[in-house]
Amino acid sequence: MVHGVIMAGGSGTRFWPHSRRKRPKQLLSIAGQKTMIQATVERITPIIPYERIMVIAGAPHVDELKRQLPELGNDQVVAEPVGRNTAACIALAAYKLSNKDPEALMVVLPSDHLIGKEKEFLEAMKVAVDTVTNGEYLLMFGIVPNRPETGYGYIRIGERLSGGGPKTVYKVAQFVEKPDLVTAESYLASGKYMWNSGMFVWKAANIINALDKHLPKLSNAIREISGSLGTAEESLAIKQAYDRIEAVSIDHGVMEKADNVLCLPIDVDWNDVGSWASLESVWDCDDGGNAIRGQVVSLQSRECIVSSPYKLATLIGAENLIVVDTSDALMICRKDRAQDVRKLHEILKNHG
Ligand code: GDD
Ligand code: MG
Repeated sequence: MVHGVIMAGGSGTRFWPHSRRKRPKQLLSIAGQKTMIQATVERITPIIPYERIMVIAGAPHVDELKRQLPELGNDQVVAEPVGRNTAACIALAAYKLSNKDPEALMVVLPSDHLIGKEKEFLEAMKVAVDTVTNGEYLLMFGIVPNRPETGYGYIRIGERLSGGGPKTVYKVAQFVEKPDLVTAESYLASGKYMWNSGMFVWKAANIINALDKHLPKLSNAIREISGSLGTAEESLAIKQAYDRIEAVSIDHGVMEKADNVLCLPIDVDWNDVGSWASLESVWDCDDGGNAIRGQVVSLQSRECIVSSPYKLATLIGAENLIVVDTSDALMICRKDRAQDVRKLHEILKNHG
């Protein structure tokens, strides 16, 4: 059986003032009406029913997640006492699922991406599921890169394993998580690399094998509590295990080291909405090419990104600015400094 595992523990610090500790990006609507987590869940329900979807998130966000996802049962929203990054989250899900179903297949998804072409995405998902059903593989979806982004993982494509056209699956020759800029530039220029979309498909048993091999301490800590998972002792057991394990991403901890990784390139209008600047291609634009949400009137202004849901915002002669107004805060930022919102967030930590 195929299960959806949605990782929702991120803090979304680059979306201040819209996102706050209590309301990280995945709990907000960034495009459209639905929140990002609602969109993520609904996107996969044509192939994975609600009853086989699990969301894993930080304990402080669990109540809000349950409110936003009323279709999920209580035990389908799993609380982590502290964030230990994605390897722990994935290990927890893998042990939980394989306890119930030794043949369980996992589709692991981040909770904060936009996907424009949902039909093509689901088609690719089916190809991925078929592929990992038949072998001991760890599959990741690849995206053709268009800039030397240092916040992503890079996949060097190896030989073709199966399929053709949009169904072609490749072996991965090398995977490098978040290279430095010089390396990313050389990867982009070589034309041989794809970005890792951060979405994975594998059998629970196979990712457990990989965790045993590459992160044995982490894997053993979760294995030791696996008898308590799904019982009244679950949260205490998770806390005891999480107190002992290291925080490491699945990308650094497993995918860079494993030799049974596959890549299925996808063309699905993917956007990981990493910062306010990425909304340029998501929100509607006015005549000046300003991406706007809410009530905005602009005069001789170009290429700005403006969100003003509560009051009329006006721009005169503004260029390349990000303006975000919320009920209690206003941010004005140069577009090329969008990544620095994270730094601002650090300074403002004590302001909630
Ligand atoms: N439950 C849980 N617990 N979820 C977590 C945790 C955690 O401790 N840490 C992160 N997540 C969730 C985030 O909410 C997000 O949905 C997803 O896991 C990925 O984490 P990010 O922190 O956003 O990873 P990243 O963007 O730096 O890198 C990953 O995604 C890139 C594509 O967006 C990697 O997989 C890269 O290789 C990839 O290119
Ligand atoms: Mg991310």
